[in-house]
Amino acid sequence: MKYRFIDEKDKKPSYDYSILFINGNSIDKIDDVEVLKMMGFEEGSVVDLPSSRKVYVSVSDMELETIRLAAAKAVKAIAKHDIKSVFLAPPIASDEEASIVALVEGFELSSYEFNKYKSKKVKVSIEEVIFDNVSSEGKSIDPKSASGIDKGVILAGATNYVRDIVNEMPQVYTPLKMEEDAKALADSHANITVESFGRDYLREEGMNAFLAVGQSSPNEPKLIHLTYIPSEGAKEKYAFVGKGVTYDSGGLSLKPNSSMIHMKSDKGGAAAALGIIKAAAELNLPFEVHSVLGCTENMIGSSAYKPDDIIVSRSKVTIEVLNTDAEGRLVLADCLSWAQDKIKPDYIVDLATLTGACVVGLGSYTTGILGKNFDLQMDYKLSSKQSGELGTVLESNPYLEKSVESSIADIKNVVINGTGGSITAGIFLSKFIKKEYEDKWLHLDIAGPAFAESEWGYNPVGGTGAGVRANIYYLMEKAK
Ligand code: BES
Ligand code: ZN
Ligand code: ZN
Repeated sequence: MKYRFIDEKDKKPSYDYSILFINGNSIDKIDDVEVLKMMGFEEGSVVDLPSSRKVYVSVSDMELETIRLAAAKAVKAIAKHDIKSVFLAPPIASDEEASIVALVEGFELSSYEFNKYKSKKVKVSIEEVIFDNVSSEGKSIDPKSASGIDKGVILAGATNYVRDIVNEMPQVYTPLKMEEDAKALADSHANITVESFGRDYLREEGMNAFLAVGQSSPNEPKLIHLTYIPSEGAKEKYAFVGKGVTYDSGGLSLKPNSSMIHMKSDKGGAAAALGIIKAAAELNLPFEVHSVLGCTENMIGSSAYKPDDIIVSRSKVTIEVLNTDAEGRLVLADCLSWAQDKIKPDYIVDLATLTGACVVGLGSYTTGILGKNFDLQMDYKLSSKQSGELGTVLESNPYLEKSVESSIADIKNVVINGTGGSITAGIFLSKFIKKEYEDKWLHLDIAGPAFAESEWGYNPVGGTGAGVRANIYYLMEKAK
């Protein structure tokens, strides 16, 4: 879709349909008040009037997320019509530019479809969205806020890019494919570079935990490292480390079929790390950004790693494997160690579809925010909230800390019959965070929100792109 504000000479633009954002309490002033009353228009309603080529959408408050959802509702209501252009007066919250960003995000995210494998492809027909220079509440909009259009397109574009990766089937989307995508991203962005490594390098580096997971797959594991350097004066250096298990069968601790379905989404963390660097580079954010993707399949086979194996990880911490399905933490352990040593970032954030326990505990919509610095976790939670992504801080305690100890090695990869599975997974990862990084590390468990089993908000079924906007909003806040 293309977006533009009306310009002065073009007071009467031509368009096929109008979207009217209405504050639920103020319908009395509207031309169609009688019709709307008859149709029970209230807070949260959408009333489509095709004969007058209008759709009314309620915006209950002026929060950014309400604006995104209102745009999404409008798109859904009129998607079935063959409409090329729409006109609207933007609902504006306290920050004008951010409201335009949110509006564009709502349009772009809700009109996404993954229809590559459908013989009959359905697509939202809207090509052009024209904004009035007066808000839905009648206030004139500063022309400078039009910069929100490009930002919204970048943010939603990066999110939809991640959705495409997560939705692609595992037969196609192997670690090699992720390497190709990373290279293509670097090729198309002058400020992004990439390097990539296979089994030989992982052996040289002693990344035996990462290697163990990929041991039984004919698809070579890949450690992919992308770097974005801003054109001037980087404020700080961020490393995003993503779990890129392109398929998680569980390994020898095989998942039952019902749990294996949709495990193509176990690459969601690495995909998000790709989306983050893409958006950061396109927005020219004033930070050096590194994305480290740990890509491998977790398969069964005669060469598979086994429960009872003991692994000497890159950082020399030894790990007793009790369940090969707790593989993400093994991949991340070595990637986190590698990223701290090689990149020496100021902050290190890992993203992973790590635990089913996180989905059980928080539900399918919420990211678990873990780490060893409570203030950093809270700060992240608050500034990422603007993105509309949901997050909850999960706190550890000394009793759970003890539970990852092993009788035969330094630590074990699961706590058998243990409770608090998301927190103990975080504790496992913390064993690979050096002392000097304890205050600078965040672990984001996106097992719930990375993949939508059914549609919600502006997310269709499938990959959601979780983690991209939360982290970019966080970085945008830090850039202020
Ligand atoms: N990839 C899964 C976690 C997951 C579950 C992501 C559901 C998305 C939806 C992870 O590798 C896994 O299998 N974890 C195990 C850990 C257990 C063996 C301690 C789990 O959650 O069951
Ligand atoms: Zn697993
Ligand atoms: Zn997994």
